[in-house]
Amino acid sequence: MIAIRRPDEVERIRASGRIVGAALRLVQEMIRPGVTTREIDEEVERFIVAQEARPSFKGYRGYPASACISVNDVVVHGIPSSRQLEEGDIVSVDVGAFKDGYHGDGAWTFPVGRVDEASAGLLRVTREALEAGIARARAGHRLGEISHAIQQHVESHGFSVVRMLVGHGIGTQLHEDPQVPNFGGRRQGPLLAAGMVLAVEPMVNSGGFEVYTEPDQWTVVTRDHSRSAHFEHTIAVTENGPDILTLPGPGSGA
Ligand code: MF3
Ligand code: CO
Repeated sequence: MIAIRRPDEVERIRASGRIVGAALRLVQEMIRPGVTTREIDEEVERFIVAQEARPSFKGYRGYPASACISVNDVVVHGIPSSRQLEEGDIVSVDVGAFKDGYHGDGAWTFPVGRVDEASAGLLRVTREALEAGIARARAGHRLGEISHAIQQHVESHGFSVVRMLVGHGIGTQLHEDPQVPNFGGRRQGPLLAAGMVLAVEPMVNSGGFEVYTEPDQWTVVTRDHSRSAHFEHTIAVTENGPDILTLPGPGSGA
């Protein structure tokens, strides 16, 4: 069953989403060669707690940190560690915040210093795919409109969409119905209605779509060790189109 949120509930998700966006902006300021992924996680946790919120991911199915931090060929769910970022890396940071009974969820992939052209293209195309998918979210459309737009954009640039992991409904739980695949036909999936709240999160590989999970049971890596990017927003469906709830984030200018 897909929950329909009242306007006051959407505003609570927006309050959590705003904390997520602000945390990712803070992360953007920290990205430089030499910083460890654990230092980034600690800063994210400090910030969320200072907003009188709770990190959604910490303790979720035993996840040990507040952010997922995934470098280069790590797709998602990288566990923060003493690993230092290096010039030329790309790093995906995924953050969830829970406040006043509702979750917000968002992610961004950052270049570390100067990155090669292929990596810069991967980041641009993945971000554009998120935007293209979100643009299709409106009451009366099928969910597949979002999925199809994402896949279309990604594959037209020669990249591939991860199949093993998908986006999700979000609200009082971090993961709710429906699943939001980043692939599929536009006539597939449930009809969207005003008040549905979705986490849309394309995971895009520069090589093949296949991935595997490391023995730590979290870290998801591309099978061919090509680089991978991940951008995510929490959005509400309205009669007139999407309402992005995880703003302002890193891409929102000054
Ligand atoms: N944004 C990811 C998701 O929605 C983050 C979940 S990580 C976990 O699935 F640690 F919470 F599992
Ligand atoms: Co998510």
